[in-house]
Amino acid sequence: MSIMLEKARKYEIEAMKQIEEGQKPSFHVCAPIGWINDPNGFSVYKGEYHLFYQYHPYSTAWGPMHWGHSKSKDFIKWEQLPCAMAPDREYDGQGCFSGSAVEHEGTHVLMYTGVLDKVQEDGTKRLAQTQCIAIGDGENYKKLNNNPIITSTSLPKGSSKEDFRDPKIWKEGEVFYVILGSRREGTGGQVLLFKSQDAQKWEYVSIVEESENQYGNMWECPDFFSLGGKQLLLISPMAMLAKGLEFHNGNNSIYFIGEYDRDNYKLNREHVALIDYGLDFYAPQTLETADGRRIMIAWMQSWDNYITPPDFKWSGLMTVPRELHLKEGVLYQNPVQEIEDYYQNEVRYNTITICDSQELSGVQGRQFDLLVEIEEGEYEEFSIRFAADADNEYYSELQYNAKINTITFDRTYSGIRKDILHKRAMHVKGQKGKVKIRVLMDKYSVEIFVNDGEQAMSSLIYTPIEANQIYFSSIGGAICNIIKYDVVVQ
Ligand code: FRU
Repeated sequence: MSIMLEKARKYEIEAMKQIEEGQKPSFHVCAPIGWINDPNGFSVYKGEYHLFYQYHPYSTAWGPMHWGHSKSKDFIKWEQLPCAMAPDREYDGQGCFSGSAVEHEGTHVLMYTGVLDKVQEDGTKRLAQTQCIAIGDGENYKKLNNNPIITSTSLPKGSSKEDFRDPKIWKEGEVFYVILGSRREGTGGQVLLFKSQDAQKWEYVSIVEESENQYGNMWECPDFFSLGGKQLLLISPMAMLAKGLEFHNGNNSIYFIGEYDRDNYKLNREHVALIDYGLDFYAPQTLETADGRRIMIAWMQSWDNYITPPDFKWSGLMTVPRELHLKEGVLYQNPVQEIEDYYQNEVRYNTITICDSQELSGVQGRQFDLLVEIEEGEYEEFSIRFAADADNEYYSELQYNAKINTITFDRTYSGIRKDILHKRAMHVKGQKGKVKIRVLMDKYSVEIFVNDGEQAMSSLIYTPIEANQIYFSSIGGAICNIIKYDVVVQ
């Protein structure tokens, strides 16, 4: 083990002890200590789910990237493992950037981007992003001696040598494929496909899809898989322009659905949409479970408006893992079913009419799964204020406007002092006021799923944990069925 990795492993054990007991979310993966971003290497290995992440243990700000590591048997209860990789080689000395993992012949193969970004003695800068491999046993990983195994020499003409990263590897029969984020001068983001027989010698195949100046200038963290008879490409474009309520300015995470032309290795795109409409969602990655479910996890934080309490020693968390489905050409996402194993204290209200702001006995807390089904009706607006206190100093609000069919999430009063962007809205498919709203909360995160997962909206709130009341209100009187469970993970 390198000195740098040993140092990180020792440091995290000591530093984690300083985190206040009970401060962290209980069923979401979060930074062990310091900073985390993108999920990496989300994979099944020896029957367990492994998740790595971009990790800077030494501060709550982004820094030279390590890979942090957690694993789980059910996506809900996670075990912290020691730091998996440090930027300890010449070719990755400025960072082990994002990547993925695959199980192969009993080993766990990690593929990641090595970043070399150095001013040399003669004053010129060496900047290169290359692709590298580390092989391990689920806890300890060894970087290959022949790294990097893909360099910019194999890039197609016009592709940037500096922005070439985030390999997502998978196996089809005996062949390995990897898709990579890239950028082309003049046209913006693109994804590149390579293939290999042994995961070490790679051959460039094609540009699977590209931005053509429509969806941002660089595509990060791609993922590519089939679902429900179609092919899906997930990407996280940088520097997008807002478009209606669909896309917002800055970094977005979007999906393309289409047919995969396997003769030419191109995606023929049919539909494009945002993956999650909240304030905090980026760089999603998926895996396939043994029983064939496609599960997605993402970084629940934003580059453009990054928030974290100044007194926390950890920063960054992941979404709940979500099961993906395709229905009538649209991507549906819902928390993994395993969450139901952690339900406690069921509370139900059937056909109650919500009018003026009211609390419902038994419905409060900061770790819950809440389902509100609103029946068809003449009401105008319905709102839920959660993480609220009795003085109305703190609350975060979900507002459904039945007239124009929008859901707005507003955390203006969530208690974050430095929060430029605190509101986002999306169109939903409601019919005459009939809509289903599910809210999953784990202390600081609010994940909203609408109409059985047709849309999702994920945002953070760092409201003091004592603010745990929930208020329902409506203009015009909404008739609802409400079910609430506490989610308890010990
Ligand atoms: C996306 C990203 C990746 C990169 C990593 C660096 O959030 O910019 O493209 O690999 O973060 O931490």
